[in-house]
Amino acid sequence: MVKISASVMCASFIELKRDLDALRGGGADYLHVDVMDGHYVPNFTLGQDFCAALASYSPLPLDIHLMIENVDAYIPQFARFTGAVVTIHPEVCYHPLRSLELIRSLGARAGISLDPALGVDSVRHLLPAVDLICVMCVNPGYAGQVLVPQTLGKITEAAEAARAAGRRIEIEVDGNVSWANIPRMVDAGAEVLVAGSSSLFEKGGDLGRNLDRLKLLVRRR
Ligand code: DX5
Ligand code: ZN
Repeated sequence: MVKISASVMCASFIELKRDLDALRGGGADYLHVDVMDGHYVPNFTLGQDFCAALASYSPLPLDIHLMIENVDAYIPQFARFTGAVVTIHPEVCYHPLRSLELIRSLGARAGISLDPALGVDSVRHLLPAVDLICVMCVNPGYAGQVLVPQTLGKITEAAEAARAAGRRIEIEVDGNVSWANIPRMVDAGAEVLVAGSSSLFEKGGDLGRNLDRLKLLVRRR
């Protein structure tokens, strides 16, 4: 069953409660929280206090995407949420295995995110410490970008690497997960879809209806 991780940076900050209720009621699986520091990526977004507010209101587990430098210093503030998966970008860690182990030691699941320019081979030795691989289909930093085409093949490569590792590792896709791209992504091996402005939160759309449409689209695959 393909899961839906709703990208909270694309929700209405003014009507956040309304959107969180719709996501829960409509059967979203995770809340995807993009944490950006203005250094690793040019943008600033959500932080630990925002995650705490989400966790206190919504029962949906947090899927926390850390797009930050100096990640080890911040992991404890994010890995403490019950049921969370905390995902790092290994190219900004001096010792990514240590960072992944830190996440797990605090009770969260550990993820790695692959920048579009980073190959699956470069993370193979991290897989024993990984519970989720997030294949980024756009450059990290902003919602509303267009898919980098060569990332689609990497979804399949990541799924194969996960199988070869002999452990349960979820394959997530993030960036331009649009109505048109979803079938290709799922066929390539995506198991968790980060749904942002290209589908679930599209301009003028209705969250409940879009969730139904997403579920129908993935059920048909
Ligand atoms: C991109 C973010 C995504 C974003 C994707 O850095 O990680 O979560 O919300 O949504 P789209 O691409 O559909 O706007
Ligand atoms: Zn993300």
